[in-house]
Amino acid sequence: TLTLKDAFEGKFFIGTALNLDQIWERDAAAVAVVKKHFNSIVAENCMKSMFLQPQEGVFDFKDADRFVLFGEKNKMQIIGHTLIWHSQTPDWFFVDKNGKEVSRDVLIARMRKHIHTVVSRYKGRVHGWDVVNEAILDNGEWRKSKFYDIIGPQFIELAFKFAHEADPNAELYYNDYSTAVPEKRKGIIKMIRQVKAAGGRVSGIGMQEHNALDNPPIDEVEKTILGFAGLDAKVMVTEMDITVLPHARPNMGAEIGEQYAYTKEMNPYEKGLPTAKMDELGRRYVAFFKLYLKHQDKISRVTLWGVGDGDSWKNGWPIPGRTDYPLLFDRNYQPKPFLKDITSLT
Ligand code: XIL
Repeated sequence: TLTLKDAFEGKFFIGTALNLDQIWERDAAAVAVVKKHFNSIVAENCMKSMFLQPQEGVFDFKDADRFVLFGEKNKMQIIGHTLIWHSQTPDWFFVDKNGKEVSRDVLIARMRKHIHTVVSRYKGRVHGWDVVNEAILDNGEWRKSKFYDIIGPQFIELAFKFAHEADPNAELYYNDYSTAVPEKRKGIIKMIRQVKAAGGRVSGIGMQEHNALDNPPIDEVEKTILGFAGLDAKVMVTEMDITVLPHARPNMGAEIGEQYAYTKEMNPYEKGLPTAKMDELGRRYVAFFKLYLKHQDKISRVTLWGVGDGDSWKNGWPIPGRTDYPLLFDRNYQPKPFLKDITSLT
């Protein structure tokens, strides 16, 4: 059977997120699958600001350097993730030495320094950057992040400006989840229009695609592809997975951190995924890939958020300690039975 990257050659890149065991090639079975099936990579964590600049002015590029080298050695498209995000940003970013919140000017200067240092280090080597991640809420309004609160909505165009200064040839992306929610789609489109009108160079928009078996509806995803492409931007699938587990519902009244506490009913497939569920997962993946193929003129890349099921963040989020099956390869890095249904679509 065809490999993923061969099946979609000339249509879109097929990517995967890499964790540290894969970046450092400590996990031979995973690395073999990465080399065989994927032609684009993104770092799952090691290019986030809490790892690249844990303290002000103290940069640590050890893992990120190795990640970029891995991509170059294997002639892969290399994606940087992510420059500005409300999450996994070190606390020092927003406060001064006395713990007092910094001024707008100081935060802008910190953003500039972080983006310039990181993007210029990999200039000409990283193909594209997720410049801003998750700035809009599901209701279409601005997320009230520290960046938004302190700088205002302009933080987005500034981030794109700084990234463009550091590597004028890199592609620059806005990236978000639940982009098929109509209100959110509209909010993102409105925001990107504003950023573009202010001169921000947005080359692409990433749909994370952390999906479930029953959500989102395929036709809403299609509306999002068309809406984003209408902004004169490349559209890409940046973090795809499909959870098979029951939806987490917050336990109202619980403490933050215990809101999604583990219960046995929420972890039904600890001993293995029943064949019927596997088939359902396969049909769901095929439906998404069919949609992406239909819009191959607009979609430049489809990236999975991990290689094998054991690597997936979904085993730990939003409920810790579950056993999920959201990816294309199982815990032993064997292709799932439906992989051939995906590779035979082309
Ligand atoms: C996740 C990683 O997969 C986890 O290992 C980490 O603990 C938290 O972040 N949206 C994003 C990704 O843009 O960076 C997140 O990755 C998943 C949601």
